[in-house]
Amino acid sequence: MGALLSALAGPLSWHGGAKAAHAAEKKNILILTGSAREGGNSDLLAEAFAGGAREAGHEVEIFACGRAEIRSCLGCGKCWSAGAPCVQKDDFEQLWPLLEKADMLVFCSPLYWYNVSGHLKCAVDRLFPYSQKRKPRDLRIREAMLLMCGESWFEKSFAGAAEAYRQMIGYKGWKDRGRLFATRVFEKGEIRGSSVLEKAREMGRGA
Ligand SMILES: Cc1cc2nc3c(=O)[nH]c(=O)nc-3n(C[C@H](O)[C@H](O)[C@H](O)COP(=O)(O)O)c2cc1C
Repeated sequence: MGALLSALAGPLSWHGGAKAAHAAEKKNILILTGSAREGGNSDLLAEAFAGGAREAGHEVEIFACGRAEIRSCLGCGKCWSAGAPCVQKDDFEQLWPLLEKADMLVFCSPLYWYNVSGHLKCAVDRLFPYSQKRKPRDLRIREAMLLMCGESWFEKSFAGAAEAYRQMIGYKGWKDRGRLFATRVFEKGEIRGSSVLEKAREMGRGA
């Protein structure tokens, strides 16, 4: 098993992301996981990160998009029209209050066809109400991280997901706090015992 930190060219070329603005500040950290496979590799990555972040005194919530019913955005333009960000009735109703109290958002997904999973992507699409010019309130998120795992031996397999993440957080004005890509993990739980989990815990401690 191997694990590689991102070392892509251009604006993606740093490894650990920007330093925390206020290292000692207690944050609300929300981790969105993207696998339906409970106890799988991305769940273990998320738990390692969460453990480190809790050790550092942060409040951490993990929301399993892969085990929730979250449909994609309808593009209906009815955001905020019924007293909530979205008119759809599904598990996004549990997610948006968590999003609204988060200071940092961590995306943690298996690599599916060179991208984040559809489960996670549907949840991300539902952030659309917060990109409207006219909105009653915005997210307070200021920082983000990307944690991923996949069967591939090659870090470059994660480049598409990393680029979408880079553009998205740039659009939202969120600071990139780091990315971690665990390669060569396929079977459920195969990541166990890998140094990548210690790296995720360390990233949590430094969040
Ligand atoms: C639908 C699907 C698509 C996948 N696509 C890729 C891929 O493009 N590249 C890759 O390296 N691994 C791919 N994989 C393997 C998963 O990324 C890998 O098994 C990962 O460790 C699963 O994480 P989990 O245990 O959290 O579900 C795919 C797996 C599935 C089920």
